[in-house]
Amino acid sequence: MGMIGGGKDAFIGAIHRIAANMDGLVELVCGSLSINKEIAIDSGRSLFLPEDRIYTTYEEMLEKESQLPADKRMDFVTIVTPNFAHFGPAIMALDKGFNVVVEKPVTLSLEEAKKLNEKLEETGLTLCLTHTYTGYPMVKQAKDLIKKGTLGKIRKVYVEYRQGWLARLTEREGNQGAAWRMDPKKSGKSAVMGDIGTHAFNLAEYITGLEVTKLCADLTTVVDGRGLDDDGSVLLKFNNGASGVLFATQVAAGEENNLSIKVYGENGGIEWHQHEPNTLLLKWIDKPAEVLRAGSAYLSDIAKQNTRTPGGHPEGYLEAFGNIYRNFALTISAKINGSSIDNSVIEFPSIKEGIRGMAFIESTVKSSQSDEKWVDYTI
Ligand SMILES: NC(=O)c1ccc[n+]([C@@H]2O[C@H](COP(=O)([O-])OP(=O)(O)OC[C@H]3O[C@@H](n4cnc5c(N)ncnc54)[C@H](O)[C@@H]3O)[C@@H](O)[C@H]2O)c1
Repeated sequence: MGMIGGGKDAFIGAIHRIAANMDGLVELVCGSLSINKEIAIDSGRSLFLPEDRIYTTYEEMLEKESQLPADKRMDFVTIVTPNFAHFGPAIMALDKGFNVVVEKPVTLSLEEAKKLNEKLEETGLTLCLTHTYTGYPMVKQAKDLIKKGTLGKIRKVYVEYRQGWLARLTEREGNQGAAWRMDPKKSGKSAVMGDIGTHAFNLAEYITGLEVTKLCADLTTVVDGRGLDDDGSVLLKFNNGASGVLFATQVAAGEENNLSIKVYGENGGIEWHQHEPNTLLLKWIDKPAEVLRAGSAYLSDIAKQNTRTPGGHPEGYLEAFGNIYRNFALTISAKINGSSIDNSVIEFPSIKEGIRGMAFIESTVKSSQSDEKWVDYTI
């Protein structure tokens, strides 16, 4: 693995490295770890990268790595830069023959996401999009239950992502992560939907296996002096006729990363909370609710494949992230070695989810600016 961004001046890059290291399948071999040259070099040295593989621009890294012999150069690059700096490195990496892991939202615009898809089709390479929450074993269990028809026809979806860290003008308090998130040129058309709404949207589509077809959104900027929205409510219509409600807010003072989902079908419902990730509640119309727990023998193959410890030992965000990396690493290893893997249990989000996420962001902005009640979700 090579890494673009994620130096000492960054948040999520370090999480990626922990996740990638978790199963001994991935080794960081090079990086252009910061936009700031000194930080890029200092960060590379701290991670014991060889001097000649600490780069100060991503262009230099991709160029030089592509010139190394196949058994020496990186197999893939992870892009953990702000949203505006995903597309350029991703396209260049694919052009140079490297598989890509990239943070969400996949690009700055839907148009860029479509171009990235064209490049993937042209090169035949693999892209992994780190929608972290799909990596949790009990999220996979929920998906499997719904796929098997356990709940009957799905009728109602409630998904919420509540944060409070932007309840003040954090971007004026020296927080660089808040500053680029609230700059439309760096963040995209919507801050709240790009940053956390896309995760909620992706979780809803992942768990239900349904697709949103129409939506009605209200995006607002609660904190004065801010360049983009920080709060949003969205009504959803799905392709099977189900309806849904999605809330994403970054101004719920006191909240951490309070993500939860509830899905109801004809026979019952499921409920999952990130703050209690090892538990999946299964509710029935005509019998008592069940409490399903990660690490249990009664879970589905996909949940078991994505669990590391026996029941009762907490598995969390890092392990969910680790599952995405493990599944991606197994997939590209199989591709390189010409072997096969079981895609029904070894899976990860890719460009399709990236495009759907960008279309979601742009559709919510369109809806919020429109006087019409419903707008089509358009790709
Ligand atoms: N999956 C998740 O749960 C999750 C969580 C947090 C952030 N993210 C996403 O991760 C990305 C990064 O977010 P963050 O909070 O770590 O940002 P950050 O501001 O903390 O870090 C960004 C890093 O990118 C570097 N950088 C910027 N331009 C660069 C360039 N051209 N070349 C090399 N390095 C460059 C910066 O120097 C810094 O190291 C964003 O797209 C964000 O949406 C995802």
